[in-house]
Amino acid sequence: MFFEPGFFGTAAPLYLDLATSYFFILPFLILYSISYAIKKQYKKHYISQFVIIVITLVVVVIFELGLRLDGGFQKYSQDSSYNYVFLLIYLLAHIVLAVMTLSYWTYFVFTSYKAYKTGNLEKKHKQKGRYVFGLILLTSLTGLSFYALLFI
Ligand code: HEM
Repeated sequence: MFFEPGFFGTAAPLYLDLATSYFFILPFLILYSISYAIKKQYKKHYISQFVIIVITLVVVVIFELGLRLDGGFQKYSQDSSYNYVFLLIYLLAHIVLAVMTLSYWTYFVFTSYKAYKTGNLEKKHKQKGRYVFGLILLTSLTGLSFYALLFI
């Protein structure tokens, strides 16, 4: 079922359509969490960050398993009209960005929480938080455009 064609009507399997939909929604979820900080509802702000990061890690694991089981990039790139080397470079750049973003975001969530609980949240949290949001947005956009390059 997960490897049957998905609901977007493209050649992509269902698990990729599900993961892609999630990565489209993700920046909006982060904005929603930040809106709690703006309203000074800090508990909702940090709990929502923990919830979003756990859901994201689960989606990433499902996505990685699906790729490994279904043949991955080698299989999908064969049906794309774009040049293989171009797709490979794009994919590598996306992977580097995604790994950096996920690592830094996870680190930022835990260190911010610890600092907040001990009353040491740095003044730069606001600025760094916006930077993390920018990284998440960029990662989502490069992922979504990679889907478009492969399947549309
Ligand atoms: C989970 C641990 C976190 C805690 C305890 C926490 C706590 C806070 C607190 C107390 C503030 C208000 C302080 C201030 O405005 O300088 C704040 C603001 C902010 N946080 Fe966090 N935060 C956490 C995680 C994050 C993450 C992961 C992001 C980004 C993805 C983020 C983005 C922001 C932003 C952008 C603001 C500024 C909102 C505004 O414009 O007023 N925070 N956070």
